[in-house]
Amino acid sequence: MNSIDYYNSISKSYEKLYKAEQIEKLIFISAFLNLIKAKEVLDVGAGTGLLEELNPHISFTVLEPSRGMLKILESKKLKNIKDICNCKLEDFQMNKKFDAVTSVTVLQDIEEKDRINFIYKLLRLGKFVILTFLKASNIRIPEELTKYLLLSKEISNDYVFIFKGI
Ligand SMILES: C[S@@+](CC[C@H](N)C(=O)[O-])C[C@H]1O[C@@H](n2cnc3c(N)ncnc32)[C@H](O)[C@@H]1O
Repeated sequence: MNSIDYYNSISKSYEKLYKAEQIEKLIFISAFLNLIKAKEVLDVGAGTGLLEELNPHISFTVLEPSRGMLKILESKKLKNIKDICNCKLEDFQMNKKFDAVTSVTVLQDIEEKDRINFIYKLLRLGKFVILTFLKASNIRIPEELTKYLLLSKEISNDYVFIFKGI
């Protein structure tokens, strides 16, 4: 089963299974978004919209390839969602730069050979990038990206990285 099929299959129970695990990271990320006074944020792999619910004052563009996860997000009828793309980051085209790009607990689902391009695309789309992934995935941030790195820390089951965009 690929990751999109997996999230489709668990979409209705996602929040029961994972909300408690996600919330500490999402609160930390929200504090950072407030610190930089972010107005327009791109959320890559937005899932059921937990970050969007926490930040009603921020305008979000969301990318979510799982139709099931997106259905839950849409059912919340959040007023701060400006655009929705039912697609992968790899298929997303946009020239503008967002105040920030977030990608929370997604990178471990990207094939190893594609991860570096995935991160570079995030860095090109955002003035700041907040990227997290599961510690258990044993992913290492490539040396060439450390020049963009502002902060790293561990929260809950994830490593959290904040980068300056390119
Ligand atoms: C663990 S969930 C995290 C959801 C949300 N960010 C949160 O914190 O609750 C990972 C999400 O990434 C999405 N995803 C997987 N591959 C993706 C890709 N290539 N581009 C964008 N999103 C992707 C999945 O569909 C899933 O909804």
